[in-house]
Amino acid sequence: MTTAPRQMNLALYNASSGISVGAWRRPDSTSDELLGLDLMARIAQQCERACMDAFFLADNVSPSPTDYRQAPNYPLEPMTVLGALSALTTKIGLIATGSTSYISPYNLARYMATIDHLSKGRAGWNIVTSYTGNQNFSTTLTEHDERYRQADEYLRVVTQLWDSWRDDAIVQDRATGMWADPSRVSRIDFEGDYYRVAGPLNIPRSPQGWPVFAQAGSSAAGIGFATAWADLVFTPQTNLESAQGFYSDLKKRVADAGRDPDAVRVLPAFVPIIADTETEAKKIKASLLDLIDYEAGRAELQRFIQPVQIGDLELDEPIPAERLVHPDQIEGAQTRYKQSYDLAATGASLREMIRVRATATDHASVVGTAEQAADLMESFFTRGGADGFMFMASYMMGGLDGITDRLIPVLQERGLFRTEYTESTLRGHLGLERPAGRS
Ligand SMILES: Cc1cc2nc3c(=O)[nH]c(=O)nc-3n(C[C@H](O)[C@H](O)[C@H](O)COP(=O)(O)O)c2cc1C
Repeated sequence: MTTAPRQMNLALYNASSGISVGAWRRPDSTSDELLGLDLMARIAQQCERACMDAFFLADNVSPSPTDYRQAPNYPLEPMTVLGALSALTTKIGLIATGSTSYISPYNLARYMATIDHLSKGRAGWNIVTSYTGNQNFSTTLTEHDERYRQADEYLRVVTQLWDSWRDDAIVQDRATGMWADPSRVSRIDFEGDYYRVAGPLNIPRSPQGWPVFAQAGSSAAGIGFATAWADLVFTPQTNLESAQGFYSDLKKRVADAGRDPDAVRVLPAFVPIIADTETEAKKIKASLLDLIDYEAGRAELQRFIQPVQIGDLELDEPIPAERLVHPDQIEGAQTRYKQSYDLAATGASLREMIRVRATATDHASVVGTAEQAADLMESFFTRGGADGFMFMASYMMGGLDGITDRLIPVLQERGLFRTEYTESTLRGHLGLERPAGRS
């Protein structure tokens, strides 16, 4: 018996006018279409033609750090968008971000079950605990590790809600007049430290049972949460060595927790700028750097490096070492903070830090040919650093064209990525089991 060669899982972290701050200012940018469905649909369909596993929508519920002067990466509410994209795509997985701090578990369970039904089993949920935005929700944010304890209880609630209907609950018996068998639908009567939820959910169990769980927080508490719950871990790793360290540590923890390490797919973010030659790709990168508004970049960096204050620094100064706080001490988002902290600790100037953050190159990145980008991906993939990648397109649509029309074909030629879908659900694409429901 021959086993199929292992292949990558690939997804797009969408930024509809490009992930680089300022990319929207390019003359050919998509920024005049940001608020409609057509652009988002075109992007998701282009990813689907390239056979990607998933299209991913991040979200942020706090005001824009740049006071709305720059085009946003999250212009619309992501779950609503996925409802529409369910009808405009047929194969690609659809992942939306939802916060355990701000959405009640019952509502979240309904949204995700609905997207999973509408898309016939393609829903994924990017679970975030949130680190800002409480001023819009009549609430305060609890401290960092407690947010993860709350998230753990939240996951117990929503999974019980999704399982409150047996898979065989709908009997469609027209003769007796019974659509669903009430004996196969149960209350959950959940009583925890944070939630009291009676259930059952008012939506039957969906095609995947549970949506795919994605998560990106890599603090100690975040890793503990991922170990228990995540199907897909999205992580910022700038080089092979750090990716290997993260990957082997996470997989070991997953195994120690009694789960199959293959059932947690690790996807570092990857920001390629692809052109026919390296020189041409570098020109594109240089043109993106020229579009950076440094005050907008400073505001974006400030959001990542909170609570370290950078408002008074000259662009050519480094952040004074005494201002830096160790990542473990951070009450906000430790993983995000560490991305900038690591660079600040090298003595980089504020200007350099803004350039890195504004172009998202605090993630793995290649500026060059498709072959060069494929080489880096292949090395991460075959040397224990990744199960796949979360692409970010630097500018739109050219950045995405480079990924779908140049880079993915090289990966396909090398046998590293599928040339057609063989499954119909997101769990299927990722090679994950469907969680068994109640019997
Ligand atoms: C690459 C990456 C992407 C993220 N995307 C989002 C997002 O779209 N929305 C959000 O509220 N938080 C986002 N986060 C925040 C995390 O999911 C998490 O809630 C936060 O980092 C706090 O956890 P930590 O301290 O374990 O890092 C992201 C984090 C990382 C590292």
